[in-house]
Amino acid sequence: ASTPPASTRPDIGIIGGTGFYSFLSDPETVEVDTPFGRPSAPISIGDVNGRPVAFLPRHGVHHQYPPHKVNYRANLWALRSVGVRQVLGPCAVGSLKPEFGPGTFVVPDQVVDRTWGREHTVYDAEGPVVHVGFADPYCPRGRQAFLSSSTHETGDLVDGGTLVVINGPRFSTRAESQWHAAAGWSVVGMTGVPEASVARELALCYSTVCLVTDHDAGIEGGEAVSHAEVLRQFGANIDRLKTLLLDVIAALPEPESDDAAVCSCRRGLDGIELPIA
Ligand code: ADE
Repeated sequence: ASTPPASTRPDIGIIGGTGFYSFLSDPETVEVDTPFGRPSAPISIGDVNGRPVAFLPRHGVHHQYPPHKVNYRANLWALRSVGVRQVLGPCAVGSLKPEFGPGTFVVPDQVVDRTWGREHTVYDAEGPVVHVGFADPYCPRGRQAFLSSSTHETGDLVDGGTLVVINGPRFSTRAESQWHAAAGWSVVGMTGVPEASVARELALCYSTVCLVTDHDAGIEGGEAVSHAEVLRQFGANIDRLKTLLLDVIAALPEPESDDAAVCSCRRGLDGIELPIA
């Protein structure tokens, strides 16, 4: 990996989802290789109101990686290797609740993993056996930054709820969708894990905001979901998402304020040495 100079080492990294391929004006681009291969794209680094920020489009610049083919391990590793310690991973989701319509932002506090067959751990070589704690999957400091935004003040952002992650790339059947809703879960997506769990394995602070693009198929008022509609809704709301992220970046703690009382993401490894600096 080529390492950016200390003055421009970004502490904050954003992983853009479907329909979100660029964020920074006039960025520097860094090619990174990792033990797990290449991330979805070169990492862009640029200034956001005085803070260096890294950006990586999850699905690649040309949306060439479907959710089950995204190299989550390389993406998180690459972000960490350029200096990132706090990751924001916005994603498009379907709503499992009639009252959360398209355009609603949800900042979940729980996740259910229904994916399979994905490379989901950086600890699968011979070596120390690592079981990271994941009871609370999202960084409380990251979540708090979302909750302090003007988007929350205006009532457009829901605090908490469960994101269920399906393997995709197909959408859910009506029966699967009704089952997820009956369990009380709020939104359904395809990328939330292993992104959040690999971040925890690499002792990164990670939080997400889910942008509702549709009512899932089994929900009152839900039509059969189409990718075209997901993209259309995301496009219609991308400027709101960028505005929200600017608020969140401004509210995130400075890199040096690693307060153990507030967040233990960077201590989740029970003293086991990280495989990366
Ligand atoms: N992403 C956007 N809408 C979705 C849905 N209904 N199910 C799964 N992932 C989605």
